Amino acid sequence: MDKLKFNRRQFFFLSAASAGAVLLSQQQSGRTQISSDNQIALAQVHASTDGVLALDLEASYRTVNLGGIQAYLLAYNGQIPGPRLEAKPGDTVRLRFTNSLTQPTNLHYHGLHVTPTGNADNVFLVIPPGETLTYEFTIPSNHPSGTFWYHPHLHGLVAEQLFGGLAGLFIVRGELDEIPEIKAAKEEFLLLKDFELDRNGRIIQPSPMARMTGREGRLVTINGRVKPTFSIATGDLLRLRIVNASTSRFYRLELENHPFYLIASDGGALSEPVEVRQLLLSPGERTEVLVRGEREPGQYRLLNLPYDRGGMGMMGGGMMGRGMRGGSFTQRNPETLATFTYSNSTASLPLPQQLIPVEELPEPETVRRFQINHGMAPGMGMVFLINGQTYSSNRIDTRVRLNAVEDWELVNTGVMDHPLHIHVNNFQLVSRNGRASPYRAWKDTVVVSPGETVRIRTRFADFTGKTVYHCHILDHEDLGMMGTMEITN
Ligand code: C2O
Ligand code: CU
Ligand code: CU
Repeated sequence: MDKLKFNRRQFFFLSAASAGAVLLSQQQSGRTQISSDNQIALAQVHASTDGVLALDLEASYRTVNLGGIQAYLLAYNGQIPGPRLEAKPGDTVRLRFTNSLTQPTNLHYHGLHVTPTGNADNVFLVIPPGETLTYEFTIPSNHPSGTFWYHPHLHGLVAEQLFGGLAGLFIVRGELDEIPEIKAAKEEFLLLKDFELDRNGRIIQPSPMARMTGREGRLVTINGRVKPTFSIATGDLLRLRIVNASTSRFYRLELENHPFYLIASDGGALSEPVEVRQLLLSPGERTEVLVRGEREPGQYRLLNLPYDRGGMGMMGGGMMGRGMRGGSFTQRNPETLATFTYSNSTASLPLPQQLIPVEELPEPETVRRFQINHGMAPGMGMVFLINGQTYSSNRIDTRVRLNAVEDWELVNTGVMDHPLHIHVNNFQLVSRNGRASPYRAWKDTVVVSPGETVRIRTRFADFTGKTVYHCHILDHEDLGMMGTMEITN
């Protein structure tokens, strides 16, 4: 859906991509870049056995090798990214979590449809430094298979802790993985994350302006590696599961000379593959695509194309609109994120024709409107607002009924993009500025650009309790762009 928006402009970007020698150096002065092969261990995989995914997880400060640089980061079990968790529908997840940071933290299971209460996906839990808490929940037996992730979610500290390195994949394996063509494909995970380090390898504290824009870093990594290489065999099908685990950075991806065949969005499978040239991923979003090894053997770059998400500056006392990125870095040329290299060949694998049907939700009982923008608050400076209010833990902003189907109209009257994310229940994009979505997909995060009205449809299924919705530019969330929702019987 967001992806298709760019199809019309693909030729412009394609030519820009092939003409531009993509030599932008990502390296900052004063540090030497050593081979990106000399790396920390890849994220370990923890898969469930006999219906239980049990593990110990610890958040701590660690020295890690990040793209050849000694970096002092926040890590889960010492790994950047954190361990990859894999479970199946119906499994019980039991995660003994220890906070070895000097700040409180907690865990959120982004995109999972599990209870937001108790010791489950409860973002109101606070785990003080030095303490341990056991998270435990059951993944419903009809839970969609898909690419989800986990990260800290303690209001006020989310951006800082995620930017510091705390994020990992949470995979639910199920019916999508059983489709023969997909099962035959070679699977790769791409967790996209940016960092900004000082000369000593420490994470740079953002300026107030960078926080308002949403902090970004110039060191862009995939699975903790800088410009990694992936191999693709002639005739092979490659399945890429891509997660934008960055605090604020958007990615507009294109693989030279190769279209992407979209097979899944945030919340799981589409009903059939959709061919796209580019993928726009805002913070929090995921996508799964197939790539065919059908080109001349060689090397093909995975490019990140420029994208203007708007911004603000206080220059001249006024607020600037799109194009002005106060306190942030503006990318003007395509950057290479990874290289895909052809290896030997295999028997030619076909694309799947059908995937998993995506349910059509009934007409909504209720339509709500959420206006998102920012403003000045006395004594607080810039605040980020939903319906004129900044987040308060003492307030329930939205009360909904279990099993209700609702449409939410998200209206952006500000100057920057805001990727709106809702916990627990995913949704479908109905329309963008009145234009119907070209296909149905389950999402949990959707970009709303300035001047846009985005209409989404959701059903509050299975779970009651309090949870949140917020902008997934996590600095905006920490600066107040979050609301509490209560689902009741
Ligand atoms: Cu990925 Cu409320 O967050
Ligand atoms: Cu979430
Ligand atoms: Cu925002």
